[in-house]
Amino acid sequence: IQRVFSGVQPTGNLHLGNYLGAIANFVKLQETHNCIYCVVDLHAITVWQNPDELTHNIREVTAAFLASGIDPDKHIVFNQSQVAEHAELAWVLNCVARLGWLNRMTQFKEKAGKDRENASVGLYAYPNLMAADILVYRATHVPVGEDQKQHLELARDIAQKFNNDFSESIAAKGYDAKFFPQPEPLITGPATRVMSLRDGSKKMSKSDPSDYSRINLTDDADAIAQKVRKAKTDPEPLPSEEDGLKARPEADNLVGIYAALAGRTKADVLREFGGGQFSTFKSTLVDLSVDKLGPIGNEMKRLMQDPAHVDAVLVKGAGRARAIASETMKAVKNIVGFVQAK
Ligand code: TYM
Repeated sequence: IQRVFSGVQPTGNLHLGNYLGAIANFVKLQETHNCIYCVVDLHAITVWQNPDELTHNIREVTAAFLASGIDPDKHIVFNQSQVAEHAELAWVLNCVARLGWLNRMTQFKEKAGKDRENASVGLYAYPNLMAADILVYRATHVPVGEDQKQHLELARDIAQKFNNDFSESIAAKGYDAKFFPQPEPLITGPATRVMSLRDGSKKMSKSDPSDYSRINLTDDADAIAQKVRKAKTDPEPLPSEEDGLKARPEADNLVGIYAALAGRTKADVLREFGGGQFSTFKSTLVDLSVDKLGPIGNEMKRLMQDPAHVDAVLVKGAGRARAIASETMKAVKNIVGFVQAK
């Protein structure tokens, strides 16, 4: 049985994109894989976080995992900073990855903006920590949204370079030549890149200053209804076939959201709503969104009333994660040639 790893940053405003692009797929994979789902708090601090808000946000992502249907007894749910091996392996990988590789990362360029001199070193090295997250469990599959594709490709390159750089030591010490497997991205479903409700050319994001750009997982029915009704559209009726969505990013986005929430394809949704007005489609989308997201938001709020319970889930998950990660780290130290207790 194959191993899945994925992570979500506790940086507030968890939204529909995080849910459809990632968390909803995490839930499904539980049936077929051993899954490890991580609240990546070390990644969050690559941009300064208010400490109290960070604590709150770590619990909130955990609550979102549980409320969406991730089972912390059958699978592993924890926060990254409780398993020191992530940071430890990241250092080794910092010494494997090349500056030239990181220089190509588009997310760093976007996040650092024009004032690159002022970006944290952590923000730059972020993808190496992400590679460490995956490789420390030797995970084979990584469910993510489209925006993480480049980081996953880098993780694959790092895994391969480690295996090559240390191939003789790996063989001499009796490990499999592919010590780190090549992690495969799982970018699946009709909503791998959910766009802003205000601008079909921008990704839905936690950091967009307009709350109307996204549906938050904790939004109540009224907020969801208002945001969907105000979502930008164009004046044309909906097309009857997927091809007709090509130059219409806002329509494409809403149809994709509908399809993902309903567990249908975009083509199927258009067969039902093609030729109709947006107003009708939007009303149905409001009902569907409230139906699917309402219970998750309510359960998140209920879980947040009991932070001690949420923290206990994370501590227990961290213990189980550490048991796997420490084995890998022992082997890595052995391969690299560090001296350690037997
Ligand atoms: P983060 O916290 O930005 O986002 C969490 C997940 O949500 C997906 N996502 C989206 N999917 C569709 N449409 C959107 N608008 C949208 N916005 C976000 C992301 O692709 C992601 O899957 N670097 C990662 C966290 C991470 C990680 C890892 C992921 C750290 N280590 C190891 C996988 C494996 C991130 O910043 O995700």
